[in-house]
Amino acid sequence: MKVGIIGCGNISDTYFQSQNLFNNINIIACADIINEAAEKSAKEQDVKVQSVEDLLTNKDIDLILNLTIPSSHKEIIQKTLESGKHSFSEKPLAMSFRKGLELKKLSDEKGLQVGCAPDTFLGAAGQKARQFIDENKIGKVSLGTFNMMSHGMEHWHPNPDFFFKLGGGPIFDVGVYYITQLVNLLGPVENIISVSGTIEQERTITSEPRYGEKIKVETPTTLMAVLEFANKTKIQLFASWDVWKHQHNTIELYGSNGSLVLPDPNHFGGELLVSNKDSDWDIVKTDKMLLGIPNKKDGDDIVANYRGVGLADMVNCISNNKNARCSIDLALHVLEIMDGILISSKNNSIYKTETSCDQPAPLTEDDIKNLKH
Ligand SMILES: NC(=O)c1ccc[n+]([C@@H]2O[C@H](COP(=O)([O-])OP(=O)(O)OC[C@H]3O[C@@H](n4cnc5c(N)ncnc54)[C@H](O)[C@@H]3O)[C@@H](O)[C@H]2O)c1
Repeated sequence: MKVGIIGCGNISDTYFQSQNLFNNINIIACADIINEAAEKSAKEQDVKVQSVEDLLTNKDIDLILNLTIPSSHKEIIQKTLESGKHSFSEKPLAMSFRKGLELKKLSDEKGLQVGCAPDTFLGAAGQKARQFIDENKIGKVSLGTFNMMSHGMEHWHPNPDFFFKLGGGPIFDVGVYYITQLVNLLGPVENIISVSGTIEQERTITSEPRYGEKIKVETPTTLMAVLEFANKTKIQLFASWDVWKHQHNTIELYGSNGSLVLPDPNHFGGELLVSNKDSDWDIVKTDKMLLGIPNKKDGDDIVANYRGVGLADMVNCISNNKNARCSIDLALHVLEIMDGILISSKNNSIYKTETSCDQPAPLTEDDIKNLKH
């Protein structure tokens, strides 16, 4: 299956590199609204450079990988489907649940698949946690927490505006990894109640090349909420870009027989902690699992980064007439949860979800062997 990329920014190199990890991704062309960005990637990666319109009508391309900014996702996915091609997009699927629903309708009408990041829940830590829950290792899970706090994105990204606009913010940008992981582990969400805040109305960029420029904040930078899942599990969440330091774990789940702590769901690997009743914590390493083996430098560390596995799985599923694990149904439900968190805080009321989705099938080591080089 031949792939074309639209959006040659920060994350595009990672996806180009995913061709070296997985055996069914073949990127042949790229495009960007900024020509120089596309030309630079094309030269570095030795692929054809095209205009966005030409890439969309390129008959050699079966699937378009959408790596544009969140406000362009819906338009590019829609044009991809209208051009008769499958789509895999970076997150979020769209800027709002209503817009996401339009994409679901079009994808059904066209009989084409739309896949969406994040795919980190397919990593070793997410799959190990899923195995523990499916095997009832901590009994029936009924409570939990997720905490995602930091002090914003304006210090590292060269173009950080989109983080502070509609479709950005800590829930849409990073909470999406946590929520997708929780839906993978616990199934769909039914009820949401939340409050929000924006502590700083303006952010000052401290990364290059736009050091010193100001960004007007247009979406809440702190959200505190409770998600009630269809299986009645209740998860308390705190997502914020207004906190300098904290000591919370990322995800904790509490079951009738014990507790489980997950590593950062933005990563593929890491250690889990599991305990039964009041016993000490057992540390469960995932660095020998196929998508947990450290393979990429991240500052001074080497971490497991297998971005692209969701795309590789989708290519495989299209060939075998199956639904991708990073399916539009999962992405749309997660989008509705994210929108619901914002809507509940704005309206001061409980948000009840309209959509549901199946838990994605577990990704076994044998499944991964089939996809990896
Ligand atoms: N940067 C990261 O580390 C990272 C990690 C995970 C996910 N993501 C996601 O990946 C996506 C892209 O992020 P990024 O950091 O690469 O952003 P970026 O701003 O660096 O790059 C986006 C590129 O898309 C292009 N673009 C925007 N609208 C377009 C349109 N309509 N048509 C064609 N090209 C268009 C821009 O010109 C730019 O080159 C976002 O959805 C983000 O949430 C980024």
